[in-house]
Amino acid sequence: MPDTAAGPAATVPPGLVPAPASLQVAEGCVVVPDGARLAAAPQLAPAARAWRRTAEAAFGIDIATVEAGAPDADVVVVLDAALPPGGYRLRVGAGQGPLVEAACADLAGAHAAAQTLRQLAGPAAFRYAPAPAAVLRLPACEVTDAPRLEWRGVLLDVARHFLPKADVLRFVDLAAAHHLDVLQLHLTDDQGWRLAVDAYPRLTEVGSWRGESTVGTWRTGRGDGRPHGGCYSRADVREIVAYARERGVTVVPEIDVPGHVQAVLAAYPELAARAGARAVRTTWGISDDVLDPSPRAVEFFARVLDQVCEDFDAPFVALGGDEVPTTAWRERPDVVARAAGLGLVGPDGAGDVARLHGWFLARLAEHLRSRGRRAVVWDEAFGPDLPRDVVVTAWRGTAVARAARAAGHDVVLAPEQHVYLDHRQGHGADEPVPVGFLRTLEDVYAFEPVAEPDGVTGVAVRGARADGAPVDGAPARGVAPGRLLGAQAQVWTEHLDSARRIDYAAFPRLAAFAEVAWTRGLPADRAPGSRASRAFVERLRTAHLPRLDAAGVEYRPLAGPHPWQTRPGVQGHLRDLAAEVAVAGDVGLGGWVEGRAGAE
Ligand code: ACM
Repeated sequence: MPDTAAGPAATVPPGLVPAPASLQVAEGCVVVPDGARLAAAPQLAPAARAWRRTAEAAFGIDIATVEAGAPDADVVVVLDAALPPGGYRLRVGAGQGPLVEAACADLAGAHAAAQTLRQLAGPAAFRYAPAPAAVLRLPACEVTDAPRLEWRGVLLDVARHFLPKADVLRFVDLAAAHHLDVLQLHLTDDQGWRLAVDAYPRLTEVGSWRGESTVGTWRTGRGDGRPHGGCYSRADVREIVAYARERGVTVVPEIDVPGHVQAVLAAYPELAARAGARAVRTTWGISDDVLDPSPRAVEFFARVLDQVCEDFDAPFVALGGDEVPTTAWRERPDVVARAAGLGLVGPDGAGDVARLHGWFLARLAEHLRSRGRRAVVWDEAFGPDLPRDVVVTAWRGTAVARAARAAGHDVVLAPEQHVYLDHRQGHGADEPVPVGFLRTLEDVYAFEPVAEPDGVTGVAVRGARADGAPVDGAPARGVAPGRLLGAQAQVWTEHLDSARRIDYAAFPRLAAFAEVAWTRGLPADRAPGSRASRAFVERLRTAHLPRLDAAGVEYRPLAGPHPWQTRPGVQGHLRDLAAEVAVAGDVGLGGWVEGRAGAE
C-alpha cells in the first residue's frame, strides 16, 4: 500500500539549493494525492505544467489541470504583481485552503516556484519513474524568494565536443533545477561548427567533423586518431529552444567571429584572411587562422544570423569576439589599406587593423539590432568601435567589466579566475585532465559578482571610444553607466568529451555558482572554511547531492573522483593564478597577447 498519510514535520530541513531568501518550516507536512487538482493563472501555465509533468513521472500519480480560480484546487498558482520580478511566495499548508499556493510575480517567478516545489519533495522528485511506495510529500512551510541577478547563465561548449541533443536537453533540465535562466550555447569554434545552416550547407558537411582530437593539453601534440563530429538540425534547435523555454531557460546562441573560425574556413576558405585549404582544427589553444573582416564576410554571417534569429527566440545573440590574433591582417597591405579607408587609424595615422575587430562585430551587431536582437561579445571586443548597446561578457577579469560598464555597456561577469568550470577542481594527482586554475567547490561559492573587484582579477584596458568616452574604468562624462546584468559560469569542453565528463566538471560546482547568482542576502564572507561555506557544503552533502544522485548526475564526489572518473596518463596544464596576475597587468585594447595560451 502506498503511504499517503500526512506525517509529522520533516526531521531534516529541506536543504534547498540555491537557498531561498526566506524559508520558514512549520509543523507537519502535506501529501499531494493521486488525482490532485492544479489551477494556474493562464500566464503561469507553462511553469505549472512543467512541475506537474515531473511530479507525475516521479510519483506515479495523475494531477488534473483545472480552470484558474476553480474552487477546491489542491495546488494553486496565482499572479501577484506586488512581488519583485522573478520572485514568488510558496505556501505549503497543513491547515485550511489549498495544499500548495504559489504566488508569482511573473512566469519566471512561477518557474522558480516550480523548481523549489520539486526540491521540497525530496530526491525522489528527481527520478524519471516512481520508486515503490513513493509519495509526493511536502513539508509545511513558507518560502519567500526572488533572484539576486537577472542573468544567471551557464555556457555550454558544444563546439569543441559535440553533445548529442538528448544530453543538451538534460543539461537544460539541470540548469533549470538550479534556478539558472540563461544557457549560452557555444555552437561554433575552430574545432567544429554545430549548426546546420540552409544557405551554407558546407558549414556542417565539412565543418562539423574533424579527423581527431588532441588528448589532454595541446602542448603534448598527441592526437587520438578518432574522428569526432555532429551537428544540430534546425528542427533540433527549435526543439532545444522550446524545451528550454518550457522550463524558464533562455537559450542564447553563440556564433564566434572573427576568430575561432577554422571550421568555417575549412568549409569556405574564401572567407579566410590567409589563402589556402585547411582542415577543421584538431588541436586546442588559440588559432591565428581568422576571417578576413571584409564586407563579404559581414554579408555571409548576416545570412547565418538571419537563420539564427528565425530559430532562436532569445533577445540576445552572442557573436564571440574573443582571442582574435591580428597577425594575418597585418600581413596583408590591402587589409591595412581597407582599415585606413574606413577611418580606422592608429595614433600614427596609418590603418590600424586591430580596429577591424570592433568594426566587423559592430556591423553584425547592427544587423542583429535590425532584427530586434542585442549582440553579446566577449570582452576583447570592448573598445572604441563597439556600439554601446552591445552586452560585454567579461571573462578576463573584473577590471574590464568595470571599464565596459563605465563606457555604458551592460555586462555579464564570467571571470575565468572564478567560474570556468573546465578548470581543475583539486590538487590531487587523480584529478582528470587538470587544466587551468585550481577552482574548488568552495572557491566557486566564494565568487562575488556584485562587490567591487578585489584587484586580484583585474586586467587594465586603456583607450577611448569613438564617442570620446574613456574605456579605462573611470566614469565617463555624460555616459550613463551600463548595468550588471548578471553572471555566467562556463563549461568549455576541450577535455570534456561526453555528458559524463560534463557532469563531473559542472557538478556540484554549478550548484555553488547558482546559489551565488540566485540567493539574496548571502553572507559576504563565503571564503573557503568560513561558516557560510561550511554550511553550504553540508547542505549540499545532506540534501542536494542525493537529488543529483536521483537525477543520475555523475558529479565529482566531495572527497575526489571515483576511480572511473580519473584519466590516468592524460596530461593537463596547470595555471597559477597569483603568478599570472603578477604579469597580466596590461593586455590593452583588443586584449589578445601573443604567446598567451587561452583557458588551458
Ligand atoms: C574565452 O575563454 N576565450 C571566452
